[in-house]
Amino acid sequence: MSLFKGKDFLKLLDFTPAEIGALLDLAAELKAKKKKGVPHRLCEAKNLALIFEKTSTRTRCSFEVAARDLGMGVTYLDPTGSQIGKKESIADTARVLSGMFDGIEYRGFGQSIVEELAEYATVPVFNGLTDEFHPTQILADFLTVQEHFGKLKDVRFTYMGDARFNMGNSLMVGCAKMGLHFTAGAPKGYYPDPALIERCEEIAKETGATLRFCEDPAEAARDAQVVYTDIWVSMGEPDAVWAERIEALAPYQVNAALMRHAAPEAIFMHCLPAYHDKNTTIGREKCEKFGREAMEVDNEVFEGPQSVVFQEAENRMHTIKAVLAAMIGGAR
Ligand code: CP
Ligand code: NVA
Repeated sequence: MSLFKGKDFLKLLDFTPAEIGALLDLAAELKAKKKKGVPHRLCEAKNLALIFEKTSTRTRCSFEVAARDLGMGVTYLDPTGSQIGKKESIADTARVLSGMFDGIEYRGFGQSIVEELAEYATVPVFNGLTDEFHPTQILADFLTVQEHFGKLKDVRFTYMGDARFNMGNSLMVGCAKMGLHFTAGAPKGYYPDPALIERCEEIAKETGATLRFCEDPAEAARDAQVVYTDIWVSMGEPDAVWAERIEALAPYQVNAALMRHAAPEAIFMHCLPAYHDKNTTIGREKCEKFGREAMEVDNEVFEGPQSVVFQEAENRMHTIKAVLAAMIGGAR
């Protein structure tokens, strides 16, 4: 019997370090197969529903391409094109879709919604991002770190910026689980929820991870092997928070001056999309309004030799494929 078959993938807290390691190994194996053109149709004739209540490029494309490579059909329900939440409850949606599909991906708002979906669904449910957690992103990030440093354990990992939202939370959990040294570089009030920190401290005792919360940006970046950041205003947040975010987080922008504090071998990571220049509608509008050239990362670092952001983006597909192959196909 497979370790994972029929399981949900809602947050990394639900998985042991060995299980996370097994999913990363499977992702590396499937990535190698894809590169060599070796077929891996491990979910032949299955079907996957993709519910997106927020927009997406990487996550949607990763689920769609991964599902097709595995032999599955996919149905995409966009933020406006379904009855979910408006005319039909999450519990009813879960039971309807369970009768037609072999798995359900959900991207939306509260973590409680994806947890409720999973409670009522009789097929595996995959979290494609909530306000609190983005677990498939962490698998891609960790595959990338592993490819770069040959290991996860003891890697010094710094997250700069708003550490209270999905990326800060999930990276802290991932680092605690896999024995990395996690630092959040952020002002007070921008750290993860104290209860989640406490839970991660407990996990860290078992895995050898350490957690640090640092107000001084240079100190946060000091000797880091990975410097990671995310946008300062997340999907679903009101436009009105831009001014306060820029004021609070500007000192934590990842730029060449900050990267000089990191280890010489440091890599730069970002889940994307990133406001690194003015080449997007919102990026331009906000940069002009607040008199800036970029937001959370400048263009020099984003385009520079330490940046691995596009390798990281590609790894979204390979890692999501591993999760689908394990939970639906029974691989591992
Ligand atoms: N990183 C990420 O989840 O990107 P999308 O919002 O494009 O899916
Ligand atoms: N924190 C970001 C992550 C995007 C992948 C958001 O929720 O919009």
